[in-house]
Amino acid sequence: MSEHEPLRLVVLISGSGSNLQALIDAQSAPGSPFRIAAVISNRLDAFGLERARRHAIPTAVLDHRDYPSREDYDTALGALIDRFTPGLVALAGFMRILTPELVARYRGRMLNIHPSLLPKYRGLHTHARAIEAGEREHGASVHFVTAELDGGPVVLQARVPVRPDDTPECLAARVLAREHRLYPLAVRWFAEGRLKLADDGAPRLDDQPLETPWLLED
Ligand code: GAR
Repeated sequence: MSEHEPLRLVVLISGSGSNLQALIDAQSAPGSPFRIAAVISNRLDAFGLERARRHAIPTAVLDHRDYPSREDYDTALGALIDRFTPGLVALAGFMRILTPELVARYRGRMLNIHPSLLPKYRGLHTHARAIEAGEREHGASVHFVTAELDGGPVVLQARVPVRPDDTPECLAARVLAREHRLYPLAVRWFAEGRLKLADDGAPRLDDQPLETPWLLED
């Protein structure tokens, strides 16, 4: 058992929430250093909300269509997140661009998972773009969130081969399976105090600069 209170984690989703499920499964392990305090979605129909409810995790929906501007939405989102007093905010398929103000509010305590080997293929349709470019290798990355879209310092990655007959769908499934191992590991390291963002903006693992992302092996 951890001698400390588990870190309070708020997870932001927009869709299926399979990465959320991986975090839910990980928090059930004995002595988990984190606990999901809330799941917030910008979409009422996100299946991840159902996943959270099944585990009695508090949920909230904040629909971006109810706000006149991105700034107004993110102000409300920040206030909602703060109600759950998180030690860490995890973006898990939260398909919104965040304002610099919201990102600054959670500097060093907001992670994102992205389905590519960053800095390659920021943004959308990463699997199709990797296939189109003839990549032999693709993967997923966990990074601290900064104001630059998918541009914050990468802390962990997992690689998968791209096969000659891959479609974007089957490549996505292979990457997603790795994401489900990657994200709980990153969150656990953060919760254990092993993973940090230093004042100079560089990530550190076990008090050592993480000059290249830590690579999850098979
Ligand atoms: C995941 O592949 C995640 O990496 C991606 O959305 C999917 C969400 O799946 N995120 C992004 O593309 C963010 N730029 P999930 O809802 O099943 O976890």
